[in-house]
Amino acid sequence: MIDSFGRRITYVRISVTDRCDLRCRYCMAERMQFLPKRDILTLEEVARLSDIFIGRGVRRIRLTGGEPLVRRGIADLVRWVGTRVGDGLEELTLTTNGTRLERFAGELFEAGVRRINVSLDSRRPERFGHITRGGDVRQVLRGIDAALEAGLAVKINMVALAGLNEDEIEEMLLWCGSKGLDLTLIETMPLGEVEEDRTSHYLPLDAVKRRLEPRFAMTPSLRRTGGPARYFEVPALGIRLGLITPLTNNFCAGCNRIRVAATGTVYGCLGHDQKVELRDALREGGEAAVNALLDELLAGKPRRHDFRIAAAAPAVARHMSVTGG
Ligand code: GTP
Ligand code: 5AD
Ligand code: SF4
Repeated sequence: MIDSFGRRITYVRISVTDRCDLRCRYCMAERMQFLPKRDILTLEEVARLSDIFIGRGVRRIRLTGGEPLVRRGIADLVRWVGTRVGDGLEELTLTTNGTRLERFAGELFEAGVRRINVSLDSRRPERFGHITRGGDVRQVLRGIDAALEAGLAVKINMVALAGLNEDEIEEMLLWCGSKGLDLTLIETMPLGEVEEDRTSHYLPLDAVKRRLEPRFAMTPSLRRTGGPARYFEVPALGIRLGLITPLTNNFCAGCNRIRVAATGTVYGCLGHDQKVELRDALREGGEAAVNALLDELLAGKPRRHDFRIAAAAPAVARHMSVTGG
């Protein structure tokens, strides 16, 4: 699959649910209208779609949400898609908030998952509870330990938020160093209406990096994961620091991905509404109909997102929880 700018699409993010057991302030509104179950692809359909993608050259699939581990039957899906690891697929991964990892880590590993990304914006119980509107960080920390024990490599994702967790970044880096986990910092993106004014929490990551540099020498890393992060080796800690900078340093020229929402809507870009609807094609038209729609999506895939730092309104109305990033 190649788009009109010559970018090869080898990576697909599949959101298996828009639901989540947390309510991070920058991600969701306090009361969310979730999709009715009948509008959501069945897990069998997600597995079929994955096979079609693999047939078209996709080498990495990442399951996201909402929170993927709240979807009933998720372990079955991971097992089905996991059978394609080494058979067309190079990697099956997940991005999770970690609350259910204690229960699922072993099954994920057995199914062929080797690496997961866990969202963790604070390790302080009260602060985590505030950011997530009621989450228990101890549950997530136990989940991370369970994942490591099961043999999974864990990368931590931390959305860097001025006034909320800015003063905890160095502490988080040290903690990640002590556990051997890579850390990725993310600039908050204007997706969907939330009660919070995101602009007041916006933190440019180049400034954060400059602040860390006197204490931690960093060198650009040559290793890439295929995602939008720019990585730096932190030799003193033996880990990597990744920066995802949609607002200050655009990375779209190297985009290799498309994203599937739980409904089967496929979006060409996180920051645009350009999309095709695969659900009915999958149900009624079969593989040829799905392929025709994917070709249409690729032909119209936007060149880049256009997030603005000072924008009062979201760039797109849908929340991150619809497409999982
Ligand atoms: P790996 O590099 O494989 O570890 O994963 P990743 O960083 O691509 O995925 P992850 O789910 O950990 O996403 C981290 C952050 O990057 C999330 O906030 C995503 O929304 C964001 N992100 C991922 N892909 C894109 C993209 O294509 N465009 C933009 N603007 N943000 C993205
Ligand atoms: N901007 C940036 N990152 C976000 N995430 C959720 N909403 C936003 C947003 N508006 C992050 C989560 C998770 C990842 C999938 O996306 O914290 O780490
Ligand atoms: Fe849930 Fe992730 Fe959104 Fe937080 S950021 S509410 S954990 S989907």
